[in-house]
Amino acid sequence: MKRFIYSTVFVLVALSLTGCFDQSKPNYQFMPDMYEPVSYETYGEYGIFPNGQEAMLPAEGSIPRGWMPYEFENSTAGLELAKTTLNNPHPVTQKNLDTGKELYEIYCAVCHGDKGDGQGILVKREKFLGIPSYADPVRVITEGGIYHVQMYGLNSMGSYTSQTNELERWQITMHVQNLTAALKGEAPLTLVEAIIDADVAGDHGIEDMDSEGLDNDEGH
Ligand code: HEC
Repeated sequence: MKRFIYSTVFVLVALSLTGCFDQSKPNYQFMPDMYEPVSYETYGEYGIFPNGQEAMLPAEGSIPRGWMPYEFENSTAGLELAKTTLNNPHPVTQKNLDTGKELYEIYCAVCHGDKGDGQGILVKREKFLGIPSYADPVRVITEGGIYHVQMYGLNSMGSYTSQTNELERWQITMHVQNLTAALKGEAPLTLVEAIIDADVAGDHGIEDMDSEGLDNDEGH
């Protein structure tokens, strides 16, 4: 008899705990800590952080992954300095020139023209005016200058840092140097391959000069 009472009470208690559960409402949380985050939300507003939110700015002087620091200023003086002191750190290989040509035809030729004479399709259709020829005698076109204008743009020309990475900008630069030389009737850049062929000792560490190893994921 005692056992029967106990089991009846147990069944009643069990039913009263589960019976009135309303499926349209959230159930009781016995240990809410298990469900509700106790940590700070990244972009939530909290007075205790110096800038009002948990997400902090990168430490001063941080350099994003894949980004190459560029020391020349975005100014006329910066451009002049780049023109005289900035040099291409990559070897002039056929591969670099070929990639440079491809990229040039994607990004630059619409204005500057395939030959660099300032006769791009936008100029021919009179959509864009004032594009100089690379052979314009009043302009001093050097490798540093070509790279610099891709970094910052120049007046109505925009910057190309979000479309190209460091190696790609130098590849484009090499192609522009060759276009400029062709327009002026000068000799193109000497290929590294040709220098090595001509070298009698022959051991200049050609493997080290290859630019393949550079990662291509800059794009910022
Ligand atoms: C929207 C048209 C346009 C595009 C696209 C463009 N440029 Fe230009 N570029 C210009 C104009 C305009 C100038 C002349 C700027 C000035 O001197 O005021 C110029 C000037 C230049 C110069 C001469 C700089 C100097 O020192 O005088 C170089 C080199 C150059 N561009 C390279 C490039 C390269 C490389 C690309 C592709 C990555 C490119 N441009 C894409 C419009 C363009």
